[in-house]
Amino acid sequence: MNAFSLLQIGLILLCTTTISSLQCNHLPLQQRQVIKNSLQLLDKMGRKFPQQCLREKMSFRFPEQVLKPGQKESVKVAIEEIFQHIFCIFSKNLTLAAWDGTAVKQFQNGLYQQIEQLEACIIKKQTHFLQRKEVNRLKLKKYFQKIDCFLKDKQHNLCSWEISRAEMRRCLQLIEQVIRKLNN
Ligand SMILES: *[C@@H]1O[C@H](CO)[C@@H](O)[C@H](O)[C@H]1NC(C)=O
Repeated sequence: MNAFSLLQIGLILLCTTTISSLQCNHLPLQQRQVIKNSLQLLDKMGRKFPQQCLREKMSFRFPEQVLKPGQKESVKVAIEEIFQHIFCIFSKNLTLAAWDGTAVKQFQNGLYQQIEQLEACIIKKQTHFLQRKEVNRLKLKKYFQKIDCFLKDKQHNLCSWEISRAEMRRCLQLIEQVIRKLNN
């Protein structure tokens, strides 16, 4: 089995299961690095935001309350969920985006590795159910569903991808900010 089909299997597993509980005292430094790299790769995979797509812009309204730095544990869980959702979004049909395939693959790999490590972490540490996590999980699910539907409605055309890429960039920037706050 080659690396590509392994990634495919991982992708299917990741996109069909959901992370429900995580409680690893996670390496914030590594996470910061992953976000930094991901932001660079997002910029690298395409060009500047095309002006002709401006009028199609949508407001997806990211549920910022899931990243409230007060609730450290649920924020960590939310961040991992977001990684997972972003990973799934970028595994949709990218043909019309016409982005740099290498950068896209590196972007996906970075997120994938980070998610995998966290998966290993869930097995080691069982967590008790927290209602807050569940509420956040649903809010995030709804938000990413909106993006997914938008892409589908536009048949994954260039503008829908560029708008989604800009949205994912904003999302990662919000995470970057909150991680900085959490570790101060
Ligand atoms: C992806 O989209 C392109 C362009 O719309 C289409 O030609 C292609 O068949 C699609 N690929 C898959 C796997 O759906």
